[in-house]
Amino acid sequence: MTKFTLEQIDELNTKLKTPQEVLKWALDNLHPKLALASSFGAEDVVVIDMLMKINPKARVFTLDTGRLNQETYDVMDAIRKKYNINIEVTFPDAQEVIEMVRVNGMNLFYDSPGNRKLCCGIRKVHPLNKMLETLDGWITGLRSDQTQNRSTSKKIEIDDQHNGMIKINPILDWTWEQTWNYIKVNNIPYNKLHDKGYPSIGCEPCTRAIKPGEDLRAGRWWWENQSDKECGLHMDHGK
Ligand code: ADX
Ligand code: SF4
Repeated sequence: MTKFTLEQIDELNTKLKTPQEVLKWALDNLHPKLALASSFGAEDVVVIDMLMKINPKARVFTLDTGRLNQETYDVMDAIRKKYNINIEVTFPDAQEVIEMVRVNGMNLFYDSPGNRKLCCGIRKVHPLNKMLETLDGWITGLRSDQTQNRSTSKKIEIDDQHNGMIKINPILDWTWEQTWNYIKVNNIPYNKLHDKGYPSIGCEPCTRAIKPGEDLRAGRWWWENQSDKECGLHMDHGK
């Protein structure tokens, strides 16, 4: 699907050093069939600020699962107003949700890992796949120290999970501290849950604050105990 070879991608990963260089390359080569997937967490608002400074027409989409926190909608609107952008909001397929909750109830995710993945599949992964089918490249706010799976990612990669399109992870090698420093210096609106002990924010019923010393992702699907928890957006288990 992509017009770039593995060798070219390797070369770009060596040549392009800063997140802004990576984003400029992506915008020059893939816009308008390029968009940032944003959950409006700390990493994503950093990438939005960088994108808007390079090209105010850069596209941003979000997967509204129907179960997000009010604080997430608040930051979405604050970002929308500050940068004057149209955020492209996707929703899950209504029929799929109706059938899922008819059979399994509204809080099915607590019942079993299978049910949790079913919900993530219907509310996040299917809408993501539908959006990605219309694009040649997508941008994320992934950082490599978030999960083991993410530690092997590259800043620019061919996404085999999504038909070989280009996946761009511009702040992959940034730390949590670098992310927050950028937010403060550039005065970017951020999700207020970050002030209440939530480093990683997903859906309201599936995310809690963490205690001092806990892993940054310990609050995600906290009732499950495997260490490398993912919802399927960045791993192929939610289809
Ligand atoms: S998740 O897979 O565990 O849910 P995480 O919350 O760490 O992902 O976010 C990693 C990246 O996935 C974000 O920087 C963003 O690019 C993308 N992402 C996560 N959730 C959403 C969402 N609801 N809408 C759009 N993009 C998202
Ligand atoms: Fe469903 Fe929870 Fe996944 Fe959100 S995080 S899609 S509510 S299981």
